[in-house]
Amino acid sequence: MLGTDVCSEFTRHGHEVIPVTSGHFDIGDTDATVKAIREIAPDVVVHTAAYTDVDGCERNPEIAHRVNALGTWNVAAGCASVNAAIVVISTDFVFDGAKSAPYTEFDAPNPLGVYGASKLEGERLAAGGCPRHYIVRTSWLYGTAGKCFPQTMLRLAQTRPELSVVADQIGTPTFTLDLAATLPELVRFPLYGTYHIANSGQTSWAGFAKAILEAAGKHDVSIKPIPSEEWPSPTKRPRFSVLRGYVRELQGKEPLRPWEEALAAYTAAMNAK
Ligand SMILES: NC(=O)c1ccc[n+]([C@@H]2O[C@H](COP(=O)([O-])OP(=O)(O)OC[C@H]3O[C@@H](n4cnc5c(N)ncnc54)[C@H](OP(=O)(O)O)[C@@H]3O)[C@@H](O)[C@H]2O)c1
Repeated sequence: MLGTDVCSEFTRHGHEVIPVTSGHFDIGDTDATVKAIREIAPDVVVHTAAYTDVDGCERNPEIAHRVNALGTWNVAAGCASVNAAIVVISTDFVFDGAKSAPYTEFDAPNPLGVYGASKLEGERLAAGGCPRHYIVRTSWLYGTAGKCFPQTMLRLAQTRPELSVVADQIGTPTFTLDLAATLPELVRFPLYGTYHIANSGQTSWAGFAKAILEAAGKHDVSIKPIPSEEWPSPTKRPRFSVLRGYVRELQGKEPLRPWEEALAAYTAAMNAK
């Protein structure tokens, strides 16, 4: 999902882009990954591949560790071998949600589940394995090129009059296109380290669902807010995982637009498809 928009944004900025999918090689395979990156010899690798099924990670920790930790390490090793920079896309799930103010890059991570822990391990291994690394944490991604929360809500709303949605997890929905648009600028300078990049504002999953239906003109379906305990999931998720793009603030950069505006742009893009 994110990878598709990353390709279009770098292309739009005049870069030569070589899209790579799981069909080309398995990032869990060290030899194949390093060989492929050496053959391409890119200047930058934007590493968006991951085992993103959060509940799946909880049930299959070895797959999570192989793809999100070892896989990221392998991509970083391939980059280091050709002196390429790596952009590692990571997640708000590296935090435990105990804070009540937005998390900055200077807050200590403490993941609650296997997905967040495996992504955090990937961050650390990439930072150790590739000197030229940008770690970009983002949150609650949705986009026009993949399965995502808005798509699920709209599909369910076709057959149900009411949708039960968790109301006690707070975060920031982020449009993949808005995140992707920041990356060509990010890689222009060798300011290696960690960045939080997400749309502005915050809401709950129930608030997001309500806004999705409103934006799509689905006024006949209601959202029933429920507590996390009523949602069947093996994963403990952070109650509060809003990311503050503090480093970008310090650099004097404009924050990304509010999530409500981004959702309107997503809805328009989906309607135009
Ligand atoms: N989605 C979110 O809410 C969210 C939030 C914060 C951060 N992130 C991070 O943002 C990044 C992009 O997320 P996304 O939602 O765009 O992900 P996505 O649509 O699930 O795409 C992940 C891609 O990784 C590929 N992949 C998985 N295992 C692989 C392997 N062993 N070797 C090679 N490729 C493999 C998948 O290929 P197949 O489909 O063929 O398996 C898929 O194309 C990920 O790093 C994710 O952790 C996501």
